[in-house]
Amino acid sequence: MSEGETFEKGEVRIPSSFEKITFYDQANKKLEALLAGESEPVLVMSSVVSVLHHIMPHYFWTGFYRVVGDELVVGPYQGTPACLKIPKGRGVCGEAWESGVTKVVADVDEHPGHIACDARSASEIVVPWMNSDGQVIAVLDVDSTLKNAFDGVDEAGLELLLSTLQA
Ligand code: SME
Repeated sequence: MSEGETFEKGEVRIPSSFEKITFYDQANKKLEALLAGESEPVLVMSSVVSVLHHIMPHYFWTGFYRVVGDELVVGPYQGTPACLKIPKGRGVCGEAWESGVTKVVADVDEHPGHIACDARSASEIVVPWMNSDGQVIAVLDVDSTLKNAFDGVDEAGLELLLSTLQA
């Protein structure tokens, strides 16, 4: 952590599109420096969730669910205690895993099958993380306590970030 940098979560708010672009660029630069040459999965996932969670004011829960056999198993995360395992096809995470595409949920109460690990989660984005063979090896799940917190800027920013990681 560089001098003067605080890793305290500040005010919860939805950043403007310009702010989101700036924040994702900051996260990419920080992770590029932090992870240079690294590919150990726990190291990479822990660093990604820590950097993102502390930069983004709209993030409440940030974490990976790893593909282990026919279920998703929780990996490194920041936030309140989460569901440990999610069966294939269940929840927003299961949908992202099976479809291989990012899921953006504006209001989790309106999303059939959403799994509420914390009742305070109001909106969510889940991004599949693929290996070099195009196989989904994990999903990055982010919850916000604010509805409509995530949009195309978050989708593009997170997909770009995950695409730069060695898996
Ligand atoms: N909401 C997710 C479950 C994971 S908790 O949010 C951390 C889902 O519906 O798959």
